Amino acid sequence: MQGERDGGRINVAIDGPAGAGKSTVARMVAGRLGYIYIDTGAMYRAVTLAANRSNIGPDEGDKLSKLVAGLEIRLKPGPEGQTVLLNGEDVTAEIRSREVTLRVSEVASHEPVRRRLVELQRHYAVEKGIVMDGRDIGTHVLPGAELKIFLTASARVRALRRFEELPDDQKIPIEQLEQEIADRDRSDEQREHSPLVRASDAILLDSSGLTIEQVVQRILDFSRTKLAEAK
Ligand code: DC
Repeated sequence: MQGERDGGRINVAIDGPAGAGKSTVARMVAGRLGYIYIDTGAMYRAVTLAANRSNIGPDEGDKLSKLVAGLEIRLKPGPEGQTVLLNGEDVTAEIRSREVTLRVSEVASHEPVRRRLVELQRHYAVEKGIVMDGRDIGTHVLPGAELKIFLTASARVRALRRFEELPDDQKIPIEQLEQEIADRDRSDEQREHSPLVRASDAILLDSSGLTIEQVVQRILDFSRTKLAEAK
């Protein structure tokens, strides 16, 4: 099969709120295109984990700025998914903890933290063939990405999805999850630096009533059109 791997390559930016399905969808789209998936949320989570370990609060901007300057964060793609390395240590599982999830949005609101991570993110995308998900990819990190998707879903649907992902011994009431998701949306949308907004040239895709496979297929269709245009 000729095509996606052989022709010109494009960059795909997938933005949207927490729980819209971005990472699952982005990973699958990357796999089908033979592209590399970059989960930028994982990078903000790694900084938050490092801050928690150093007892730095999410509101301590100066300390976070110094901390992030000394961190080495690497994303290593692999057959089992992406591994997140913090100063060489595999923190892939630990960055998904609630302690990190509850603080990451505030940590991500500090401009020096964002500046440092955006620099790394742009570096990954230089050679094209990247599917990157986050909040500010289409607007700020890769404004020249050939395909931009803004993936969303209702807060209720997103809370239900998060609920299903939680292990049985860590279940939290759906209402509480929905509240936390709404709080995080607000914080991501209202922050001063690179807030979560849809890029004017991003395609809006609401995944509430769609299966993951349907969402993936739509994005693959859009990417084929963009690939043809890029040739
Ligand atoms: O996608 P996620 O839930 O792993 O993201 C974690 C947090 O990081 C989320 O609250 C918003 C923030 N984030 C961001 O500010 N910019 C990005 N490009 C990606 C994530």
